[in-house]
Parts: sequence; C-alpha cells; structure tokens
Amino acid sequence: MIYFDFAATAPLRPEVLVALEKALRDVAGNPSSIHRLGLQAETALRQAREQVAGALGVSAEEIVFTSGGTESNNMAVKGLARNRRARGQHIVTSLAEHSSVLESVRALEKEGFSATYVEPGTDGRVSADAILDAVRDDTVLVSVQVVNNETGALQPVAEIGRRLQERRRPPRFHVDAVQALGRVPLELAAWGVDAASFSAHGLGGPKGVGFMYLRRGVGVEPLPHGGGQERGLRSGTENVPGIVGAAVAAELAARELPQASAHMGRLMEMFLARVEELVPDIAYISPREREARAPHIVALSVPGLRGEVVLHALEERNVYVSTGSACSSRRGKQSHVLAALGADAPVREGMIRISLGPVHTEQDVEQGAKAFAEAVQELRAALSVGHA
Ligand SMILES: Cc1ncc(COP(=O)(O)O)c(C=O)c1O
Repeated sequence: MIYFDFAATAPLRPEVLVALEKALRDVAGNPSSIHRLGLQAETALRQAREQVAGALGVSAEEIVFTSGGTESNNMAVKGLARNRRARGQHIVTSLAEHSSVLESVRALEKEGFSATYVEPGTDGRVSADAILDAVRDDTVLVSVQVVNNETGALQPVAEIGRRLQERRRPPRFHVDAVQALGRVPLELAAWGVDAASFSAHGLGGPKGVGFMYLRRGVGVEPLPHGGGQERGLRSGTENVPGIVGAAVAAELAARELPQASAHMGRLMEMFLARVEELVPDIAYISPREREARAPHIVALSVPGLRGEVVLHALEERNVYVSTGSACSSRRGKQSHVLAALGADAPVREGMIRISLGPVHTEQDVEQGAKAFAEAVQELRAALSVGHA
C-alpha cells in the first residue's frame, strides 16, 4: 500500500503507540484529584506540556491542550476576538483558511463583528500587502495559516507578523500551524504570533487531540465553561493518554524537522518530475516552485478527468490520495480554497492532492508516479472508447 494522504491524517507512529498504551494502562487518576493517583496524572500532563513547549520553543504555561486543530482554531479566533471586543470589532483573514477558521469568523459576524476575507492569488498564496492593507484601526484579530492544507502553499506569516508589530496598536495575530509542525520551520516568537493552532493526528499522534500556543499575557475568552482546567481556558477532564501521545508526536516531529523536511521535499520533486514525464499535460494547482510550497503537499489536476475518478482508479492500485481536504471531500462540498484562487471548474473537478510523510521512500514515489500515469492512461483510453 502507498498512502499519499498524510495531510488528511498520518498513521500512528510506533513510539506514540507505546506511550499511549503505557498511559492508558498506568495513568488512572484525574489530574485534578489531590490524591496520589491524581498527582500521577498531573505529572504526566505536566511532562507532556513541557515536551510540547520544547517542540515549539516556548514556555510550558503557553500551551493549552484541546481536542484538535478545529477546536484550537475556534478557541483562538473566537476567544481572541471576543476578548478584544471593547477595542474594535473587525477581523482580517484569508479565503484560503481552513473551514474551522472561516466558520469561526462567520460565527463572529453574526455577533456583530465585521470581517475582511482576503483572496489568495491564483497560486493559492496570500499576499502580505493585501493582508496589511485590510488592517484598520479597529481590527482586533488577523488570522492566517502557515501552510495551506489543500495546495501546500506557504503563506507569508513572518512578514505579516513583522509588519503587524510595526503598527501603533497591533491586532492579535493567530496562525493556523496544523500543517506546518514538523514540515516547515516555526518561529512563533520571531513572527510576533499571539496564538497558534496545532493538531496531533497529522504528525502520527492520536486523533482528537491538539494544542494551542497562547503567548504569555494574551487574553482569550474560553469556549467551554466548567471546572476550569487548562488555566480556565478549556474546562473538562483532560484526555491524559491522548495528550501524552500527542506530546511524543510533537517532540519527534520537531526533532526530525530538518531531515524530514529535506527528505519529503526531495521525494516530492522526484514524484513531480516523474509525473510530468509520464503525464505531460498535468496541470499544477499548487505553486510549481518548490520554495512557495511546503515540502509534503501538492495539488495537481488531470485535464479531462474528474479527481474522484482518478482517486478511485489509484485506490484500485492500492495508492491512496485525496481530492482536497478530507472534511470537504467526504461531504461532497466544493473546495472553497480552489474557488477562492479562481481555478476554472474543470481544473477544480480534476484536483488530486498528494501529501507525503517522512516515512516514504524513493521506491514509494516511483511506484506512486507510475500508478498515477497508468490510472490516467487507462481512464483516458476508456473515455476515448466511450466517445468513439
Ligand atoms: C490547516 C488545518 N487546520 C485545521 C485542521 C483541523 O484539524 P483537526 O482535524 O485536528 O480538527 C486541519 C486538518 O487537517 C488542517 O489541515
């Protein structure tokens, strides 16, 4: 099997499985209990928090555990904006954001906030100028992703963060870094980031666990109200085993970043060169230049064929890809990202996303590219017979 859908989710890493099993078996208490078993769970939680903080190069008290990227994005966008409502009610984001950011902003619009949604360019990249031009004196939040999950486009968050800091009263700056950890370097402090969202399952951690970086001193309105766990920001008994597993995945991803990123970048170039050779009319939805894209994601389009049909033809060959983000593919929704970057309907319908992981080999990409070319040839042959 060749699994080229790491942007949807990654297989559980063996090191994570070991940590998960151990925590499920051995950590029985509730971290809030004051007896010995509670203390043991609290210790596991503290260690996990330190591990995640180490992976991000931040302090442990700046980490809030959540149920994943979606919740982190909701918490950051709604929490930061609501906390600053007295200063202004305007938000700037891009139309290339994950739906968990866009829908959070839309929910805020129903509460009286207004928003500017900056359109990405045709290569899926958002311009820092366009974001900065949209910022006003009453803007309280700017939210931009680091890496786009559908095209891999790298967004200019370093420049946006630097230029926001030059303003007299900078708005809060949130980045969705779900597709970035372990794939591209993250410099949260240097970028002037106030909050960043992360998820464990794309890193080989468990599903349904994530975390948020919240810079010291930055206020957010909590979403769930209750017992006051996670410094009052995320009430509810903590998913200690999941958090322990997520911390292992985050630590490994950060430690392996330089090699993993170079490795995936090299394999992706090999894959693309081979596909270009075998399917010469392949079209790029992602930026073609390597520097404009994260190393692990590319979006292509096969002229004349629907992406879904190519996906299933590849599945027949035991190669797994996607036609966009997992959440929109399954629900039959058109990709809002592709619509935003102005792709024509046939290009959109032909979209195939390939996303690699650190575990892939040259053999995988060679076989994957060959299977891709065979699938395309077979489908085109069938189409031409149908037309004859
Ligand atoms: C860029 C981005 N943001 C947010 C999410 C949502 O994360 P989760 O699946 O953990 O809710 C994803 C999912 O892959 C993503 O790619």
